[in-house]
Amino acid sequence: MTNSTKLKKLFSQHFNSAVDVIVHAPGRVNLIGEHTDFNDGFVLPAAINYGTDIAGRKRDDNFVNVIALDWGNESVSFSLDDIQYDKKTLWVNYVAGTLKILRQSYPSLKGAELMVTGNVPQGAGLSSSASFEIAILKAYAELYDLPLDGIKAALIGQKSENEFVGCNCGIMDQLISAMGKQGHAMLLDCRDLSFKDVSIPETLSICIVNSNCKRDLVESEYNTRRTQCEQVAEYFDVKALRDVNENMLEQAKSNLDDTLYRRARHVVSENARTLAAVEALTNADTKLLSQLMHESHVSLQKDFEVSIPQIDILVAMMSEFLGEKGGVRMTGGGFGGCVVALVPNGLEHELITMVKQRYEAETGIVPSIYSTHTTQGAFRR
Ligand code: GLA
Repeated sequence: MTNSTKLKKLFSQHFNSAVDVIVHAPGRVNLIGEHTDFNDGFVLPAAINYGTDIAGRKRDDNFVNVIALDWGNESVSFSLDDIQYDKKTLWVNYVAGTLKILRQSYPSLKGAELMVTGNVPQGAGLSSSASFEIAILKAYAELYDLPLDGIKAALIGQKSENEFVGCNCGIMDQLISAMGKQGHAMLLDCRDLSFKDVSIPETLSICIVNSNCKRDLVESEYNTRRTQCEQVAEYFDVKALRDVNENMLEQAKSNLDDTLYRRARHVVSENARTLAAVEALTNADTKLLSQLMHESHVSLQKDFEVSIPQIDILVAMMSEFLGEKGGVRMTGGGFGGCVVALVPNGLEHELITMVKQRYEAETGIVPSIYSTHTTQGAFRR
């Protein structure tokens, strides 16, 4: 049975009525451009074949009834007229927050029955929450025929994270989940939200390895990094670190606190690497990709300090294996989660075998490996 046939059947069993819509929104992997989005910089993510599926039906009143198949069929009801943060059932805040913000633009929206399921690993840096938010918005856009485009949807999802969930994230995850294009990565300018589809050479495949290390305090560390970047932007009296270049930063080095200097050095150099990576992908220049991804990882490890030892071990063994034939780095917000590799076709199997053997031997942890391909965003035509 396909996912959507199964979802339709379960929906009608649970809600005693047929579905109106079934939607899907993908998770993402970021190839390069990490912690640059909230600095008005550049990112290069791709939408992947792991995502969130939602079956939905309209209601005539203002109640929303949601059931989450992956949380032991837990179900929650709330009224759109009284949306509060739920401290007990954390997953429902992604639904409630998103609808609260959506309703600011469409105040007459009514309720819905929603059934949710997904396969984006949680806490792995592959944007399970953004894919959840975008799926909710897509379901509502279809149910209520809203003139919502992918960029508007992404902004609503981000606002809900910032104002309702409490994570000061940038726009990357929601925008790629909404607007990704199959076979491509997206060069996104996070200042004006313009983007360009960048074809991924057919000779390369994407391999994602989960270190299976989750860390606490991810959100507070993330918000601290963001504040540090804003402090440096303030020092230069510019809107964001996007407006600072290497020369400016070097000249100011002695006036800046060392931690702040290193945070900014990561962002400034990562923006340049992201633009260079677009050229490298376009020219299928794996040697350059390999170098840029390596530099990105070291910068995240030493300057931005968001890597962890297990991730560094994974990156080192994969990089030793790939040499100049492919690239590898940590991906996502950091503090655990996944590494992403661009691997020449034909080498994936050997790489995976090596990782399975060595990672467990060196860390005592069994990794998860996702065979990945790029997919289309939820709002992309
Ligand atoms: C998280 C955030 C994104 C981005 C990345 C780091 O995924 O949600 O906005 O900042 O971390 O690149």
